[in-house]
Amino acid sequence: MDLRERIRELCRQRDAIILAHTYQPGEIQDLADFVGDSYGLSRKAAGVQAAVIVFCGVRFMAETAAILNPLRTVLLPAADAGCPMADMISAEQLRELKAQHPGAPVVCYVNTTAAVKAESTVCCTSSNAVKIVQSLGECPEILFVPDQYLGRFVERKLGRKLVLWEGFCPTHALLRQETVRRLRAEHPEAELMVHPECLPEVQDLAEHVLSTGQMCELVKTTACRRFLVGTEVGIVHTLRKLAPHIEFTHVTPFLRCPNMKKITLEKIVGCLETLEPRVTVPPATAAAARQAIERMLDIAGAGG
Ligand code: 13P
Ligand code: SF4
Repeated sequence: MDLRERIRELCRQRDAIILAHTYQPGEIQDLADFVGDSYGLSRKAAGVQAAVIVFCGVRFMAETAAILNPLRTVLLPAADAGCPMADMISAEQLRELKAQHPGAPVVCYVNTTAAVKAESTVCCTSSNAVKIVQSLGECPEILFVPDQYLGRFVERKLGRKLVLWEGFCPTHALLRQETVRRLRAEHPEAELMVHPECLPEVQDLAEHVLSTGQMCELVKTTACRRFLVGTEVGIVHTLRKLAPHIEFTHVTPFLRCPNMKKITLEKIVGCLETLEPRVTVPPATAAAARQAIERMLDIAGAGG
């Protein structure tokens, strides 16, 4: 039996749903019940009815699904699919930072461990970071962890300083101004879209600085027929499906997240057969982290 048929059969037997991030390989996106950005996946996970969630993404995303679904089984087909940015701040380090800034609210990017979320006031994703920080009002200090470049993007949008942690995405940081300048010269008619995890000087060269979900929305309505895509390569598959009439050129083969690519069809079969590897979060950590995530969902609403 073909691997895809086997997966569908196992999903029926296990009452399982497959959620996939837009950075997943195309064949996994095509198989998934739902494909989305971090925010869309969190919202979807909050309303899942199936007994089992197969999360095709990285660990923090599967943890978020587990936090929102304590009674369901959440599987991450590749147990070692982590996010290096999420590991750039520990709960202990965040406690120390909070002690240096007593009373300041903490906004944590969703790309964090459950233990860091549990220490935070409110979570955010790249699609709603500006809205979430704004919702905190005129606090003298706001701590923003761990992505310094998303943090700087928010600072610029709101015209206010944040206390930033020096984390970053090692994949997005590989995109440099020289590469973008060369591509722009080769494709003068194309508009450039980049993710706010890119370096600020790269963001400066782009027409659009957008979360992956916002990129997907833009291509449904734009009059532009050519785009340079400055985020992880997997999304090019998603964008081509959404807008087959548009020409998409990915900026560089280096913009490929090795962790996102650890999920394979074989591993999905394996996890559905064995119901392992499971992602679980200790109940006390999950309860505290859930408050930060649910606060985000309440503030950001359906629009993200
Ligand atoms: P999105 O919030 O745009 O889905 O991005 C998640 C991510 O990990 C980007 O590197
Ligand atoms: Fe983490 Fe970067 Fe991969 Fe996103 S692309 S999961 S931030 S390492």
